[in-house]
This record gives sequence, structure tokens and C-alpha cells, in this order.
Amino acid sequence: MKIQSDHASLLIKLLTLNFLLVFSTSQDFDFFYFVQQWPGSYCDTKQSCCYPITGKPASDFGIHGLWPNRNDGSYPSNCDSNNPFDASKISDLKSEMQLEWPTLSCPSNDGLTFWSHEWDKHGTCSESVLDQHDYFATTLSLKSQINLLHALESAGIEPNGEKYSLRSIKSAIKGASGLTPWIQCNNDSSGNSQLYQIYLCVNSSASGFIECPVFPNGHCDSSIEFPSF
Ligand SMILES: *[C@@H]1O[C@H](CO)[C@@H](O)[C@H](O)[C@H]1NC(C)=O
Ligand SMILES: *[C@@H]1O[C@H](CO)[C@@H](O)[C@H](O)[C@H]1NC(C)=O
Repeated sequence: MKIQSDHASLLIKLLTLNFLLVFSTSQDFDFFYFVQQWPGSYCDTKQSCCYPITGKPASDFGIHGLWPNRNDGSYPSNCDSNNPFDASKISDLKSEMQLEWPTLSCPSNDGLTFWSHEWDKHGTCSESVLDQHDYFATTLSLKSQINLLHALESAGIEPNGEKYSLRSIKSAIKGASGLTPWIQCNNDSSGNSQLYQIYLCVNSSASGFIECPVFPNGHCDSSIEFPSF
């Protein structure tokens, strides 16, 4: 009887622990940042870039990633080493990935290194919501829902090396999408502040855009360059 009750209490402890683990891994984030990068601003820095083996990407924003984040500004990363990136799971998406999610890192490659990094660091932290295939398919679908370059160009903001006010860039995107973007700047090789990445926010089921609960930190000048590509 004693042994049985010890077993029962151990079982209850294990079940409780298991429940807590499952519970904590299933919702360790509150929303996603959906981040797109301007290739011209990746390539014209001191670091420079390499085009993917498939050739120069289109003159368009490219996906950087879909990143689970918490409302307090922190974020989980590298959440499941038991579920590493597996290219065979996204073979049906590869040609669209090469167009919409092109790598610019050196040496030239086919993009698998970039996508693998994004899955391992960020995607594994939202696997309770999106498996590997869904993670990439959903991110591609988000890009198709809001055309950032079109939003900017419609407001006369073009990638031509001119400077535009940060305010006009934000208001063009807000006007076209209803969403307040966060703009990340970097510096070109001469030190000019330029439009590098645009952050939008997506709800925790990755099925709807939302206003960002919190913005990252960073600095842009009030007037920033939009380089050509
Ligand atoms: C850009 O350069 C300025 C100094 O001119 C520096 O303060 C800032 O940190 C740089 N920004 C980035 C993203 O490297
Ligand atoms: C996310 O947004 C979609 C579309 O508006 C909605 O159907 C879904 O319930 C939302 N999910 C969460 C967790 O808020």
C-alpha cells in the first residue's frame, strides 16, 4: 500500500511537471515581429553582400523573418534543438522562398543557411502554433498580404538614393495597411542613415496583423536615405 501510494504521488508529480513544461513551451511569446529588409541597404554597408547563386534578387523588400516576441520586449530563441531545420519539409516552397526570402550573406549560396538559422533560432519557439512547413508558408503568405514597396511608391517614396522623412515613410505604410510600422535604420558605407528593415506585428496564432504591443530599440535620423537596388 505504501509503495503504491509512493508510485501514485510520483506519477502525479511527473504529470504536473509534464503539464508545466508543455504549458510553458506552448505560449512563451505574445506576438510575432514580421521583418522585411531592403536589399540595397544590406548591400551598400561596409560589410557588403553576396547575391544568392540564383542571381540578383528583385528590387523589392525581402523577408528577414517571423520572430516570436514577448510583450515585455524580450524574446525566446533556440527553443528546440530536437527539431532542427529540415530542407525536405519545405521543398514545395523553395522557389517562392528564393524570390521572397533571398539570402544576401557571403559566400553566395542557395539560401538554406539563412532559412535554417531563422527556423532554428526563431521558428522553434513558435512550433506550438506553426510546424516547419507552416512557419515558412505562413511567412510567405504574410508578405503577399501587404506590399510595402507599393505602399511607399504610391506615396512618392522611391528607392532612388534620395532622402525621405521618417515620418512620411511611416505614414505611407500606415495609410496603406492601417498598421504602424517600426523602421530600423543602418548606415551606408559613408555613414548616412538609411531605411534598412520594416517591422510589422502579427498576433500569436500568426493569422492576423496587429498593432505592435512594443517596439524594439534603435535609432533613425529624422530624414533617411532609400538607396536603389
Ligand atoms: C550609424 O552611425 C552612427 C554615427 O554616425 C552611430 O551612432 C550609429 O550607431 C550607427 N548605426 C548603426 C546601426 O550602425
Ligand atoms: C489572430 O487574428 C485572426 C484574424 O483576425 C483571428 O481570426 C485570430 O483569432 C487571432 N488570433 C489570436 C490568438 O488573437
